[in-house]
Amino acid sequence: MTDRELMVLAEQARERSYSPYSHFCVGAALLTKDGNVYTGCNIENAAYTPTNCAERTAFFKAVSEGERDFEAIAIVGGKRGTVAPFCAPCGVCRQVMAEFCKEDFKVILGNSARLSVHSLGELLPYSFTESDLF
Ligand code: THU
Repeated sequence: MTDRELMVLAEQARERSYSPYSHFCVGAALLTKDGNVYTGCNIENAAYTPTNCAERTAFFKAVSEGERDFEAIAIVGGKRGTVAPFCAPCGVCRQVMAEFCKEDFKVILGNSARLSVHSLGELLPYSFTESDLF
């Protein structure tokens, strides 16, 4: 699975975005070390705070199916009808990534026409993790 192929899956997942309030549509595709892919979209709510980001939808689908080892995630977003050149994951989603992934976890941003590849360590330095609790 190439970075671009993963991004194409994120773009397809984005088509299922439920975002009637922000009209901002996000898709994600999460690749496990075994080569499985779990996709997600953002799911909004009239009460706003129950909204779930695309990245967390993908992570929670994967973890709930027993996955624990992740290689990369592709994320694409933008106002409905347009694709932003770059849609960075929010802080909460970065924290969820840090729960399950090391600093070398690959975060692929942009869109299938132009990828921007990062690491979780770059996006969330000095993260608070399980090791801080013990
Ligand atoms: N959103 C995501 O899905 N992922 C992010 O990392 C940033 C924000 C969604 C949440 C909400 O439905 C919409 O984008 C606008 O914030």
